[in-house]
Amino acid sequence: MNNRRNWLKQVGLGIAGLGLSSFDSVSFDENFSLQHAFDEDTIFLSSNENPYGPSPMAKNAMIESLSKSNRYGMEITMQLARALAEKNQVSSDNIIMSPGSSAILDIVARFAGMQKGNFVTAEPTFNYWGSVAEALGLKKIGVSLTDDKKHDLDTILKAITSETRLVYVCNPNNPTGTICEHEELKSFIERASQNALVLLDEAYLEFTDEKSMTAMVKTNKNLIIAKTFSKIYGLAGARIGYALAHSDTIKKLKQLQTWAGIALSVVSSSAALASLNDNTFIDSTRNFNKDARTYAITELERIGIPCIPSYTNFIYFSLKDYEKDFFQQLKAANIIGTRIYETEGEWSRITVGTMDEMKALSKALG
Ligand SMILES: Cc1ncc(COP(=O)(O)O)c(C=O)c1O
Repeated sequence: MNNRRNWLKQVGLGIAGLGLSSFDSVSFDENFSLQHAFDEDTIFLSSNENPYGPSPMAKNAMIESLSKSNRYGMEITMQLARALAEKNQVSSDNIIMSPGSSAILDIVARFAGMQKGNFVTAEPTFNYWGSVAEALGLKKIGVSLTDDKKHDLDTILKAITSETRLVYVCNPNNPTGTICEHEELKSFIERASQNALVLLDEAYLEFTDEKSMTAMVKTNKNLIIAKTFSKIYGLAGARIGYALAHSDTIKKLKQLQTWAGIALSVVSSSAALASLNDNTFIDSTRNFNKDARTYAITELERIGIPCIPSYTNFIYFSLKDYEKDFFQQLKAANIIGTRIYETEGEWSRITVGTMDEMKALSKALG
C-alpha cells in the first residue's frame, strides 16, 4: 500500500470519528471505478430514478461538452433557461436554475425561514427540505394523508395560520404516487397563497397526464413550482433542477443563491438542453414505465401486497399481511428498496424499474 493510500485510510478514520459517512467526505482512491460505484448486479429500486436514461441525445451532448468544462457555463445555462421558458410558456425572468430541485427546495425553505412561524406539509411526503426549515426555527404542522393516501387539501387549508410561512404540496406525491385533482388543486393554491408561500413540487408530473400549474406563476407572487431533470429525463446524477415563479419572487430567491448564473455545470446544462428535444426517449420512458408498473402492481397484489394506484414511477404498498421478511427477501435478491414510511399498515415504496427488474422483484418476493 503506498503512502497516499495510507493517508486516505487515516483521513477516512478521522472522518468516521467525526461521525461523517464516506459520502460526506472527499476522498480519491486510485482504485475507484464507475464499476464499483454502480454495481451492475444490484437492482436499484430505492430512489425513483429512470432506469433507461440518460437519453442518447443527452449522452452525446455531455461527451461533446466535456472539453468546454474549462469555462463557466453562464451562456449555456441561459440558453437552457430560455428553452425552459418557451416550453413552460413563461419568460426567462420566471425561472431560477439549480443543481437538482433539492437545491430549489432548500432555497425556498431558507427564504420562508427568514421570518418566524410555521410550515404546513402532508405526511408522509418528500420531506428532506423540512429539516432546513426546522433548523431555521419554523415549526412543522403535519397533516395526514387521506385513507386512500392522497393530499387532504381541505384539512391543509384549515391548518394554515397567520404564522404560516410555507405550504408544501408534492404532486404527484412521493412516496404514495397519488395526484391531486387539477381544479381542486388550483383553487387550493389560490386560497393558500393568500396567506403563505405555496411550494408545489412537480418532480414526477411528466409521468402523468396532468397539466402543470405553471400559468399561475405569471400573476401569483406566492406560488413557486419546483421541477427536475432527475426523473423522466433520466439525469439524476447530472443534478439539474429549476423553479418557476413570478419574476419578483425569482429575484428574491436568486438573492439566496451565490452567483446564480453558474449554478449548473456546462456538462449538465448541455445534457438538459439535449434531453428537452429527445421526445422519443421521454415517450418511451413513459410507456415502458406504464407497462412495468402495471405488471409490478399485478404481481405484488397476487403475492398478497396491496398497492395504492400509482401515477408515477414508484408504487406504495402495505406489508401488513405479507408473511415473509420483505427487506430480507429484497436483500437476498440484491435489490435495494427503501423503508417503512408509515408503521400503521406497514407502508413502503418501491421504484418501478425495467420489466426485467420487476420480474426479479416478483421472483424475490413470491
Ligand atoms: C418529490 C421530489 N422532489 C424533489 C426531489 C429531488 O430531486 P433532485 O434534487 O434530484 O431534482 C425528489 C427526489 O427524489 C423527489 O422525490
